Amino acid sequence: MPQPAVIYVLNGPNLNLLGTREPDIYGHETLADVQTICEAAADDFAIVFRQSNHEGELVDWIQEARTEAAALVINPAAYGHTSVAMLDAVKALSIPVVECHLSNLFAREAFRHHSFITPAASGLIAGFGAGSYDLAVRAAVKLARERRVATDRSV
Ligand code: DQA
Repeated sequence: MPQPAVIYVLNGPNLNLLGTREPDIYGHETLADVQTICEAAADDFAIVFRQSNHEGELVDWIQEARTEAAALVINPAAYGHTSVAMLDAVKALSIPVVECHLSNLFAREAFRHHSFITPAASGLIAGFGAGSYDLAVRAAVKLARERRVATDRSV
């Protein structure tokens, strides 16, 4: 089955407040600015960019990515530290997954050092502010292309 040339970028709780929320930690860029960064980094892939404060909605979107996306970039925000449901949804994917955080989790409180998502992700990018999304989408594009080549060879 041909892969859709689409990368899903999913954002968890409170990221709708980017730009005004603790700007010393998360920066001055808004979520709309972050979307523009993702679209610029996506090359010939289309970006589906969404944010929700609701765990179940995020789970639904991760499931949707199983058939609709070639790769997933996800900033689970606080749910990364708490959500087994999101871990299980990510584990059900066969596409590459790049976990992305604006802040450097490991330079912050101990409870932010653990993410349920990381063991199921292809990799983790954190600490570059809005630039984390640029790097994460570039990584997702590369992984999606590599997977496409590998899948084509196996047909
Ligand atoms: C965050 C880090 C999380 O610990 C926090 O709960 C967030 C944002 C980040 O992008 O740095 O909401 O995911």
